[in-house]
Amino acid sequence: MHILALHGINLNMLGQRDPAHYGTATLADIDAAMQRLADELGVRLACFQTNHEGQMCERIHQAHREGVDAVLINAGAWSHTSVAISDALAILRCPVVEVHLSNIHAREPFRHHSHIAHVARGQICGFGADSYLLALRAAAAFGPCARHPR
Ligand code: DQA
Repeated sequence: MHILALHGINLNMLGQRDPAHYGTATLADIDAAMQRLADELGVRLACFQTNHEGQMCERIHQAHREGVDAVLINAGAWSHTSVAISDALAILRCPVVEVHLSNIHAREPFRHHSHIAHVARGQICGFGADSYLLALRAAAAFGPCARHPR
């Protein structure tokens, strides 16, 4: 199985961003923890971060061409604003898991709506860096994606 983890805008700044909401782990720490879990689960994991919305869409298009089996995405603030990213995710035929470190539903009202939620199989939020590990376990449990053209 090939799983892709996508990190959106400002997530490269983890470790220096509001630790009350996002904890102290850096993105490199999170990617390393996910790689360890991926090894344990016997799945292949690729990680990608960008602060450019178009680049995120291009990476999602590439995931479609590659025929990845599942996508995890923390789109950061784009979760609340980007129809473009949700449209790109809708092109994928594999399951998408939406991830957030913080519980977006317990924060400001503008964070309560996600444009990703309706194209995702499910959403994991509020468990800090562990949200990613839970999402990776969920994605691995889906098994290979039979619906993706290869
Ligand atoms: C976030 C929540 C978003 O509201 C915020 O804009 C982020 C991070 C999270 O992981 O909790 O950048 O996606």
